[in-house]
Order: sequence, then structure tokens, then C-alpha cells
Amino acid sequence: MLKILIIHGSPHKGQTYKATMEFLDELGNRIEVEVKHIFLFQEQLELCRGCGICVVSDENRCPNKDDIQMIHTLMQNSDAIIITTPVYAMQVSALVKNFLERSAYIIHRPSFFGKWFMSISTQAFSGDKDVAKYLANVMHFWGFNIIPGLRLTLAPGDTQKKAIRKKITAAVDQFQAIDFLFQVGKIS
Ligand SMILES: Cc1cc2nc3c(=O)[nH]c(=O)nc-3n(C[C@H](O)[C@H](O)[C@H](O)COP(=O)(O)O)c2cc1C
Repeated sequence: MLKILIIHGSPHKGQTYKATMEFLDELGNRIEVEVKHIFLFQEQLELCRGCGICVVSDENRCPNKDDIQMIHTLMQNSDAIIITTPVYAMQVSALVKNFLERSAYIIHRPSFFGKWFMSISTQAFSGDKDVAKYLANVMHFWGFNIIPGLRLTLAPGDTQKKAIRKKITAAVDQFQAIDFLFQVGKIS
């Protein structure tokens, strides 16, 4: 069974959440999955203070005492991670950016080898290409294998449209292929 952690980066359960649940519904119909959810807006995550202690010394010496290590532990216990974000001001949401800054040391000490990463982004008109590229780049440095981002341009109610369904199905296909690799033990 593929263990997936979804890190929801929208500040509310809006369009991005809805699209993500559509993806999960289709995925659940196709393969056996165990899904856990983290909603960044519900977690206590202080802003990065820029001290750099996590990078040059030890992440456990971070002056912020909050939920960041709990999220990293959940990630370590998963086969695949999905970060979801709306495009806000042409980039990831502030919640996602802060999560990445609070995790900055991982770029220097990558620890997610053998795991898979995909982003889900929704937008109204522009910016999702940069968002998907940015997230793939960071997660590549963390050690992940990268699945091309699921990028959706949405107006309310659009998730049922044929073109959107097609993109969601293509992303599900990618996960089905990864599940197959896990099943045959090519990736442990
Ligand atoms: C503050 C804010 C900034 C936004 N900036 C962009 C943008 O730069 N490019 C874009 O295409 N859409 C932009 N949008 C539209 C959202 O990306 C789009 O509606 C998205 O599906 C919203 O997802 P959500 O319901 O999870 O917030 C913005 C929306 C908000 C509220």
C-alpha cells in the first residue's frame, strides 16, 4: 500500500483542496493508498528567524519550538509527498514558502531518497509553471524523485470539466506507475 502525505498549503479549504480531493478520489479508485493530511494553516509554524543554526549546526537547535519536526517525521514515514498550493502573487502561498524556509537545512543535508514528490497547484491565469518548477527544484535537493506537477487553471466548479479531469487522470496514472514499482520491490 502506497503511503502518501498531503501537505496542504492553501490558507483555507478552497479550490486547491477541492482539486486535491478529486485527485485522491480517483487515485483511491485505482490503487490501495494510505493518505495522511497536514494542513499548514492549522499547524503552529513560526516564521524562519534567519539565524541559520539549522544549516550550519543542528536543526534541533532551531529557536522556534513548534510543529516543523513533526511534519518532517510524517514525511519520513511516507512513500510519496504532495505539496498543494494556490498560486498567490505568481508564486507558492506564504504558508508553503515559510514551510520551505523552516526546512532550509534539508537542501544541505538531503534525506528523502527513494521517495516521490508531486505538487498540485491551482491558479486563475498565470504563475503555475514557475510554482511547479520551484517546488520540483527544492524537492530534488531534498532527495526526492520528482513527478511532474499537476497544474490546474480553475474557475469555480471547473474540476468536473473534461480538460481538468484529463490532467487529474494523468497525475493518477503517474502514481499508479510508482505504486507498481513499489509493489515489485524495485524501490524500497
Ligand atoms: C491573494 C491572491 C493572489 C492570487 N494571485 C494569483 C496569481 O498570481 N496568478 C493566478 O493565476 N491566480 C492568482 N490567484 C487566484 C488563485 O490562484 C486561484 O483562484 C486558486 O485556485 C485559489 O485557490 P484556493 O481556493 O486554494 O485559495 C490569486 C488569488 C488570491 C486570493
